[in-house]
Amino acid sequence: MVFIGYREGHRVTEAPRLEVRSITRAFGGRPVVNDVSFTVEPGQVTCLLGPSGCGKSTTLRIIAGVDRPDTGVILMDGKPIAGPDVMVPPESRGTGLMFQDFALFPHLSVADNVAFGLKGTRTEKRLRVRDLLGRVGLARYLDSFPHELSGGEQQRVALARALAPNPRIMLMDEPFSGLDNRLRDGIRDETLELLKEEGTAVVLVTHEPEEAMRMGDEILLMRQGRIVQAGAPYNIYNAPMDREAAAFFSDINVIRGRVEGALTRTAFGQFLAPGHPDGADVEIVIRPQHLSIDFDRDGHGPAPTEEHGTWARARVVRARFVGNESIVEFELDDGTPLKASVPGVFLPKTDRVLWVALRRDRCFVFPAPRKAAE
Ligand SMILES: Nc1ncnc2c1ncn2[C@@H]1O[C@H](COP(=O)(O)OP(=O)(O)OP(=O)(O)O)[C@@H](O)[C@H]1O
Ligand SMILES: [Mg+2]
Repeated sequence: MVFIGYREGHRVTEAPRLEVRSITRAFGGRPVVNDVSFTVEPGQVTCLLGPSGCGKSTTLRIIAGVDRPDTGVILMDGKPIAGPDVMVPPESRGTGLMFQDFALFPHLSVADNVAFGLKGTRTEKRLRVRDLLGRVGLARYLDSFPHELSGGEQQRVALARALAPNPRIMLMDEPFSGLDNRLRDGIRDETLELLKEEGTAVVLVTHEPEEAMRMGDEILLMRQGRIVQAGAPYNIYNAPMDREAAAFFSDINVIRGRVEGALTRTAFGQFLAPGHPDGADVEIVIRPQHLSIDFDRDGHGPAPTEEHGTWARARVVRARFVGNESIVEFELDDGTPLKASVPGVFLPKTDRVLWVALRRDRCFVFPAPRKAAE
């Protein structure tokens, strides 16, 4: 083993499974992947998450070797596989691929599909195929043909096929988007379990935050070719770097304010706005599930607390039940719209006046975007 250095106080003797160093790719002069860097360790699932067109698939294609970076280097287990002087062909990279339009070979049986990329004796191949198909719950379909299987079953065969040669890294591009909702959750979980058992490193591309949070050990949030934030799902959700990052994961409420002496005054009391200069416009951002609601007590609300700050009068605009929660839309006296999600059934009548407060520890204060006229 090669001594590499120290990471978090531990002596590290192995390079990351995958290391992407500052890769860039432009089409027609427009950078589509712009200075992207990250690492993936064995057994780790890393999700590239971002809106359509932000460069996720291009990044994955470059790692797979079907495209090459203009600049930057990619290393697998410490060895360069793509860079200015090196371009290892896709089939020699030890990657497993699973894309949305995965295609099984229609003329081969399920077992032969899974065995397709395998090396070794017939017995070894047969054992590996049986083992994998057993683990995806399809042992009894060994001799079936793809057209005899449902979409979800075909997906599981595709997973078994991609995993069969023990890839060092699995590259998945929206692999579950062709499946209907009910099937998807189950297959995601089974897939994750199998990948963890195999200890495969995974890069998963998705534009769905729920999928990234469900599957990822780490999320790389991409925007216009760049990684704008990286971290564990919990951190990205609870400490978004800006309003857009917050809004990518759920509906948000935005309360505007202006800073005076490192404080901003709102209908919910004063908020600390450290680091924001006097006179700056800021936005206080909070997710709908972090609003608290209380009833009117003869024209006044509950006393302010450290947890909730000041309660503000809010008129109900609309309330809807959406399954296991209710969404209540409010308007504050100053016209600010707010949306609260409440577990269970809570359907107050339109125009009813309630009191609303913000969970202080769940508020984010961001600089307000400048208006074009300013
Ligand atoms: N070979 C190419 N030639 C020209 N432009 C390309 C090429 N490949 C990708 N692009 C452009 O690069 C941008 C990023 O594409 P990419 O497929 O990486 O996006 P994505 O994040 O995967 O989006 P989606 O979620 O819609 O799949 C798009 O604007 C796309 O049109
Ligand atoms: Mg894509």
